[in-house]
Amino acid sequence: MLPQLLHKNADMTAPAILTRLTQDIERQGYAVMPDLFTPSTLEQLATHYQRLGSEDFHLAGIGRESDHEINRRVRADKTCWLEPGPPELFDYFATIEHLRQHFNRQFFLGLREFECHFACYPPGAFYRTHLDAFRGKPSRKISLIVYLNRAWQASDGGELILYPDNSDSESCAWRTDPLLTVEPRWGTTVLFLSEDFPHEVRPTNATRLSLTGWFRI
Ligand code: OGA
Ligand code: MN
Repeated sequence: MLPQLLHKNADMTAPAILTRLTQDIERQGYAVMPDLFTPSTLEQLATHYQRLGSEDFHLAGIGRESDHEINRRVRADKTCWLEPGPPELFDYFATIEHLRQHFNRQFFLGLREFECHFACYPPGAFYRTHLDAFRGKPSRKISLIVYLNRAWQASDGGELILYPDNSDSESCAWRTDPLLTVEPRWGTTVLFLSEDFPHEVRPTNATRLSLTGWFRI
C-alpha cells in the first residue's frame, strides 16, 4: 500500500489498532494506546489549543451539572469544552465518531453522544481520586483521554493512576494498589469504562495538557 494511502486510512484508525483496543477493553476494561490518533490529528489538536486564550479556560467543577461546585482541594485544573466545527478538530471528531460506531457494534452500548474538554493543569495541580460516572445513571460510559505534552519527563509527575473497582468488597476502593499508571506523554491515549475505575491525576510539576472526553448514552 502507498504510504500516503496508509496514512489516509490511519486517519480513520487502522483496523489492527481497533482490534487491539476492543480486546483490551473486553479483557480488562481499559486500554492504553500510543497510536490511536495519527500524528497529524495530534498536531491539529495542539494547533487548536494554541489558538485558545486563557479567557477560554475556567476552573473545573465537580459532580453533576445540577450540583456543580468548584473545590480546589479535589481538582485544580482549568477546562475548556470543545464542539465540532473548527477545521483543525475535524480529524479528531471523525475518529471519535468512528470509535463510537465501532463500540456500539462491538459492545452494544448504545452510545449516542460525546462530550470533551481540554484540561490544563498548571504546576502543582492534581485531581483527587474520583469516578467519572455513577453506576445505574444513564450517562458517561467510556472515558477517553489523549495527552498533548511534548518532551514529557518522568520527573514531571502528573501521572494518571487507575485503581481496581473494589466497590463490591469491604476494602476501601480508594486505598488499594494502583492497577495502572500512565505518564501523560504526547499522543498517549487512555480509554476505560467510566463507571468501573476510580482514578486520580497525581500532582504535576510541569504544565500538563489533556483532552478528556466521554461517550455517553
Ligand atoms: C477527568 C480526568 C484524567 C487525566 O478529567 O475526569 O480524570 O489524566 N482526567 O487528565
Ligand atoms: Mn476522571
